[in-house]
Amino acid sequence: MQTGLTTAILPSGEAAVAAAARALAAGALVAFPTETVYGLGADATNPAAIARLYQAKGRPAFNPLISHVGELAAARRIGRFDATALKLAEAFWPGPLTLVLPKTAGCAVAELATAGLETIAIRIPSHDIARAILRAFGGPVVAPSANLSGHVSPTTAAHVRSDLEGRIDLIVDGGPVEVGVESTIVGCFEAPMLLRPGGLPREAIERVLGRPLMQPPADAESDSAQPLAPGMLASHYAPRTRVRLNADKVEPGEALLAFGHPAQGADSAAAVMNLSPRCDLNEAAANLFGYLRALDEKRARSIAVMPVPDEGLGEAINDRLRRAAVGRD
Ligand code: TXA
Ligand code: MG
Repeated sequence: MQTGLTTAILPSGEAAVAAAARALAAGALVAFPTETVYGLGADATNPAAIARLYQAKGRPAFNPLISHVGELAAARRIGRFDATALKLAEAFWPGPLTLVLPKTAGCAVAELATAGLETIAIRIPSHDIARAILRAFGGPVVAPSANLSGHVSPTTAAHVRSDLEGRIDLIVDGGPVEVGVESTIVGCFEAPMLLRPGGLPREAIERVLGRPLMQPPADAESDSAQPLAPGMLASHYAPRTRVRLNADKVEPGEALLAFGHPAQGADSAAAVMNLSPRCDLNEAAANLFGYLRALDEKRARSIAVMPVPDEGLGEAINDRLRRAAVGRD
């Protein structure tokens, strides 16, 4: 469904950065690359812009957004950092880590962006273009992944366009992203909790903390209750085609998402894409969403997915694959 907007698409560069900052200040919706996935940005202090953002994505309004800032001082104006949060920020920002913290008393981010929660999700991205836009704009920018709600996250400007053309004002094209899965989300509660595995491996965080991250309670995953990290909605990342996990062979009519040496039956598969022939988990993460989108286009009976080891970025890959495998209406 189009809303009739003309979506400008600009190659990254100084002119695009300036246009993006101007558009954000005017309350417009701007998609831009981060190191994890493309984000759909809006001025975090402008409730009308945020309302349009939820509408453009078709996103349930109870699902809160991440506020992106350019530097730690700006983050500290909106979130209350304890010693653990500071330690994580200093170790991993800028980078693919989001911290969920109590809001400060004077937090300028609109209530609509935090969906009425007392906490706020904050991240400093490392991508040059994202940082340049944040610097030029000068305030916090909310940016969910730049896809329609329920679709897989975009890792190229073309993915953004296919979901959101006609619904947003500007796309800054910075080429394919580097990491390919969304940021890791850590809740800085009494004990730090892994709310979403992502582009920063759990192991790296635990090394800095010197202790394991807590797991959220099992019922936080449910689709019905207000979830702890609402992006954990079970079917958050589903393609239209059914996804079959842990496949050791390809059934007739299936497409194959391979990892390493392709499974038995690959030769007669409807389509084959290999996340990483050499079993490199970083390469697999970077390819994941693009390949899921491409295989979804083949309209195969289902997509058979080979097992991926559950370590490093494999934890985030397996998390997204499990969500992709949950059936939707
Ligand atoms: O890599 C990323 O994080 C990308 C890029 C664009 O930065 N953004 C992204 O945003 O993935 P989004 O909106 O698709 O996912 C944000 C997640 C959601 O699962 C949301 O529920 C959770 O962050 N979240 C936001 N605020 C929260 C809060 N106060 N408490 C718990 N979870 C929160
Ligand atoms: Mg998303």
